[in-house]
Amino acid sequence: MTPTTRQECAALDAADPLAPMREQFVLPEGVIYLDGNSLGALPRTAPARVADLVEREWGQGLVRSWNDAGWWDKPRTLGAAIAPLVGAGTDEVVVGDGTSANLFKTVVAALRMSERDVVLGEAGNFPTDLYVTEGAAGLTGATQRRVDPDGPELAAELARGDVAVLLLSHVDYRTGVLRDMAGTTRLAHEHGALVVWDLCHSAGAVPVDLSGSGADFAVGCTYKYLNAGPGAPAFLYAARRHHARADQPLSGWHGHARPFDFAPGYEPAPGVSRFLSGSQPLVADAALEASLEVWSGADLEQVRTKSLALTDLFLSRAAEAGLGSLTPSEHDRRGSQVSLVEPEEGAGYAIVQALIARGVIGDFRAPDVMRFGFTPLYLSYTEVFDAGQALVEVVREGEWRQERFRARSQVT
Ligand SMILES: Cc1ncc(COP(=O)(O)O)c(C=O)c1O
Repeated sequence: MTPTTRQECAALDAADPLAPMREQFVLPEGVIYLDGNSLGALPRTAPARVADLVEREWGQGLVRSWNDAGWWDKPRTLGAAIAPLVGAGTDEVVVGDGTSANLFKTVVAALRMSERDVVLGEAGNFPTDLYVTEGAAGLTGATQRRVDPDGPELAAELARGDVAVLLLSHVDYRTGVLRDMAGTTRLAHEHGALVVWDLCHSAGAVPVDLSGSGADFAVGCTYKYLNAGPGAPAFLYAARRHHARADQPLSGWHGHARPFDFAPGYEPAPGVSRFLSGSQPLVADAALEASLEVWSGADLEQVRTKSLALTDLFLSRAAEAGLGSLTPSEHDRRGSQVSLVEPEEGAGYAIVQALIARGVIGDFRAPDVMRFGFTPLYLSYTEVFDAGQALVEVVREGEWRQERFRARSQVT
């Protein structure tokens, strides 16, 4: 039952098994943070971990830290820590580079593994996914097509029998729609296509089972629900069965079988390490390490249960405010965000700005989507109730109509 009063929310907070985890994050006073789907909050131990890397490992250890502090193996040790969060084997995930670069590597590697030459993307996917498939197609001579992944056209496109690679987002960044990873992967495989999953909005937001779904490749960022900080490195998953054949285009020395032979020719490493390219941002890795320590104490089923309860609660308040929702009401089709629309020209952006002025931080995605992310590790039911109350007031009282809420910033 969705709570309808603040008292009911307070009772849910008192009984919430995840409530103590909030202490592990730094959150400013007076802010209700509903934008962890864009940039997660700061883990309390991250500043000390970063300082330790800088002062001790770099300052004192100097170049010796490549061995002594495990710097060289960081992509693999961090990958192994992410693996259980996405249902992967510890030898199937590496951390390094950014999401866009890793999408490029996996899409090209998958294209090179196939006799076919069509890369099927998702109409309306996050722009980087669209641009990467365009670039990957240009590089390999493949053709790209796009499809609505939530309609019958996907099956029809795959049935044409020419698709080498399908690239899909597990959770849609704009609407929050959650896709059936196992079912779609099975369908793609039945039609001879490989699948690359973009997990940016699902890693740390919903339980993910890459191995159980038979996924081929996946890429995700760590700065959203995984809370590793702005610009933190991404992770890349390659199913073990593909390691020997995967030929990624950014062949660099960190992906070499014997990097310290300094051989003139490239020979890829035997495992998932072949997807690495060059030296990694170790200072940023330290923040990710701190954040993954928090995650090691979290139960993803509890996270999912609370995420659905929080999004139900906010959806019910949004309905009171008279706003339309792009986010499905069905639990099995919903990620951990709520996307709302108000048809009047310019209203969506202004409503988000009016909420931010009240300390309720969400974001806006063109052309008209108000996005609110729900991170069960550090959000309470009472906060979500209060955020909903602010939304109702901002909309009902027309507070958003003030001119100051219309000025567009560079980042929306
Ligand atoms: C679905 C999706 N893919 C990729 C990205 C970002 O890629 P990068 O980390 O390379 O900026 C985002 C960022 O919001 C995203 O939502």
